[in-house]
This record gives sequence, structure tokens and C-alpha cells, in this order.
Amino acid sequence: MLIARSLADLRDALAPYRHPAFVPTMGNLHDGHIALVRQAKPLGDVTVASIFVNRLQFLPHEDFDSYPRTWEADCAQLQAAGCDVLFAPPEADLYPRPQTFKVQPDPALADLLEGQFRPGFFTGVSTVVMKLFACVLGATGGTAVFGKKDYQQWLVIRQMVEQFALPITIVAGETRRAADGLALSSRNGYLGLEERQEAVALSQALRQLAERWRAALAGGADALALEQQALDALRARGWQPDYLTVRRRSDLQPPTAGDGPGTLVALGAARLGGTRLIDNLEF
Ligand code: PAF
Repeated sequence: MLIARSLADLRDALAPYRHPAFVPTMGNLHDGHIALVRQAKPLGDVTVASIFVNRLQFLPHEDFDSYPRTWEADCAQLQAAGCDVLFAPPEADLYPRPQTFKVQPDPALADLLEGQFRPGFFTGVSTVVMKLFACVLGATGGTAVFGKKDYQQWLVIRQMVEQFALPITIVAGETRRAADGLALSSRNGYLGLEERQEAVALSQALRQLAERWRAALAGGADALALEQQALDALRARGWQPDYLTVRRRSDLQPPTAGDGPGTLVALGAARLGGTRLIDNLEF
């Protein structure tokens, strides 16, 4: 695996290729990331991953400084997964001057859910992803793989690619889960032993919400009240939920009468102790 620390090195490394397949990450890799790299491999003539902890997508009180940096382990995993090129620029290389020119995603999508609780998050994500796309895929176009664990991020990036007519195909990777059902996430590493056992309750709450929503639709019950029940149940277990909600998959708006199972997604974000976890379940 070739490690490109600068944009010049990256361009040299990619010069022979016509269709890179790209997986952007912030490092601290787990099996979910590695599954995306393996998924990317047959989709291009060179497989590229990036590791860059993007300051722009963290709020001042969030974990930018403490975000786990696990360089050696990340490199070993990427190498074993068959990644060809790792782009890992220092911050001064990707942001040589303050990044004042930003990509502003559609507020109708980006100000909901995650965007409501992490204002500016999707501007930070869209800006860095646009820049990473320019670095990795700018010369040729190509394919990029995004995990559906970050469901709203995947939709925002898809919309960005479509609206700017970027010659990039966005491919979705399914969420990988631990044996008990907890969605794999770099932030799971923050959980203490007891918290780790409790953490699966978020995915269970989403599964129950989806099941009850489905039953409520069939019986004509007040489906919206189910979200409140789900929030209350998680609070009673000691969580601080931001949202637990059922939305249309296509635009994350609340479903209307025509939106039935097969078109919906239950999404949740909640804090357990000091750790904020997110998850979702299509149904
Ligand atoms: O999902 C992530 O790890 C990040 O948001 C991304 C896409 C690498 C942008 O920093």
C-alpha cells in the first residue's frame, strides 16, 4: 500500500489509473470501514482510502482533539484489506489557509436530525468530502463508497454529487454490527464495560419503533405517539436521546399516507454517558 502524505504524492500515485474507487474515513478503523474498502475493491482499477480527522465537522465542545488516532493499526487493516493507496494529508496540506469557501448543503435535508443537534455538521462534511473528491477523483471521476450507518450523511453526499454534476458514483455500504446488534462505530471505543452492554438498546429501540410503526399503520393508530414512547423508554434506561423517529428514506421527511413499509427508515441518536451514538434501520 502506498501512503500519500501530500496532494502531489497522491496525484503521482493515481496518474496511471482511470477509475479510482474511494473510501473516505477519519481513521480509527473498524470492521465497518474495512467492509467498505473490500466493497470498493472491484468497483475501480485502484482502491483508495483517506484518513483525515476533519476539524470543520466538529462543534467546539465536541471530540475533535480526543478523536482516536490509531495510525499503525489503521494502516495494517487497510493493507490487509487490499487498499492500494492511502491518502493521509496533514491538516496544513488540506487546509493550508482557513477554509472560508464552504459547501452549503440543502437545509431541507441537512438541517434535520443530525443537523439540528450538530449545527454546521453537514457543511463541514460536505466541504471536506468535496475537497477529498477533488484530490482523489478530480482528474478522472470514479466511485466513492459511504456507509449507511451515517444515513443522512450518505443522502447529503448523494445530493451534492447530483447537484454539482460530479462524475462520481456513490455506492452505499450496509451497516456492520457486533454480535449483539450494536452498529460498529469509532465512538463505541469511548464506552465503558457496562455502557457497552447497554449500548445495544439503541438498535433495539429502533427495531421496536419500526415494528410498532408497521403495526400502527395497519391498525390506523397514532403512529407519531410511538416516537414519544420510544424516547421515554430510552430515557428510562438512563440515555439522553436527541431523536428517535421514522422518516421517508428518500428525503428524511416525516412519512405521509402513501409512504408504507419498504420506503421508511427509523433513525436515532442518543447519548449514553459521555458517548453519542447514532443508528438507523430501514423497513
Ligand atoms: O463518515 C466519516 O468518517 C466522515 O464524516 C467523512 C465522510 C470521512 C468526512 O470527514
